[in-house]
Amino acid sequence: MSKFNLAVLPGDGIGPEVTAEATKVLNAVADKFGHTFAYTYAPVGAVAIDETGDPLPDSTLQLCRDSDALLFGAIGHPRFDNDPSAKVRPEQGLLRLRKELGLYANLRPVAGYAELVDLSPLRPERIKGVDMLIVRELTGGIYFGEKGRLNDGNTAYDTCTYHRHEIERIVKMGFAEARARRSKLTLVDKANVMESSRLWREITRELAEENTDVELNFMFVDNAAMQLILNPAQFDVIVTSNMFGDILSDASSVLAGSLGLLPSSSVGATVGMFEPIHGSWPEGAGQDRANPVAAILSAAMLLDHLKLREEATDIRRAVNTALAAGVGTEDLRPRERIGTRAFGDRIARGVTYSG
Ligand code: IPM
Ligand code: MG
Repeated sequence: MSKFNLAVLPGDGIGPEVTAEATKVLNAVADKFGHTFAYTYAPVGAVAIDETGDPLPDSTLQLCRDSDALLFGAIGHPRFDNDPSAKVRPEQGLLRLRKELGLYANLRPVAGYAELVDLSPLRPERIKGVDMLIVRELTGGIYFGEKGRLNDGNTAYDTCTYHRHEIERIVKMGFAEARARRSKLTLVDKANVMESSRLWREITRELAEENTDVELNFMFVDNAAMQLILNPAQFDVIVTSNMFGDILSDASSVLAGSLGLLPSSSVGATVGMFEPIHGSWPEGAGQDRANPVAAILSAAMLLDHLKLREEATDIRRAVNTALAAGVGTEDLRPRERIGTRAFGDRIARGVTYSG
């Protein structure tokens, strides 16, 4: 029996709806195992801009620092997307949060569900056996390098910079994650073109000497994009830089059938943050249509991080049972179509009555 202080940052669009289902399921876990989860809510993203002018208010950041873990919803609003002149953007809140909290590793597991193979645009035989983890560097590279404009604004640049220590810590995590799975690590880079990629390769080769039990291979990112579609089951753990990981993780979400199923964790030195990989889906907001599974499975990753393994397993089992029973939100094209809240209820009940 333990007590945990959780910061909940629901964010924009469908974020509040899906995080509500995640806390519902966490409450079922708390009741069953005698834990206490104390939630404190704070604004981030477009809602925070509306309230305070800042996508990451100081009070939100402070709350995160003082919490045991963070549950994050989604961020983004269309009114900023098509306005290149916008000075303040919701996404800045998320990027700052990652940087300020030192969340340098983003872990995105992707597995296929047997019941859902028909949802993927890929043929079932291609996605059979898919079970991989993308380990994406999250606080460096082109996202955070020097950027700007020259020549009266007619030249723009973004630089990709990586320091040895940033590469070492993420690649080490890649090896450790691989060891806990099927012991295969693929470094995805663009070492035929980029100097920063060559440094990644150099350091990864060095680390391989201390990790000889893990099979290591290298793949250029363009080829990796193709391989993810042609033969995704070949991958166990992929470790890669910030932007390559961003792109490849959206691509790999197709393998699971719906973006609405995939959770992620962002971890580093301090408090961990757990969030669905999907965005804020503004058109679907407030309609009880969003799939809460990605948020609920993110809560399971949160429990793993707090070393509550049995609790996390209960959540995953409840999700699997619901999917196997053919119930779900519209994106899953289920036999029995239900809304966000009913789906969350069902999974929460699954937690209560399983095991
Ligand atoms: C993600 C998102 C973010 C990113 C955006 C919202 C800034 O796409 O978490 O993958 O690019 O990292
Ligand atoms: Mg992304």
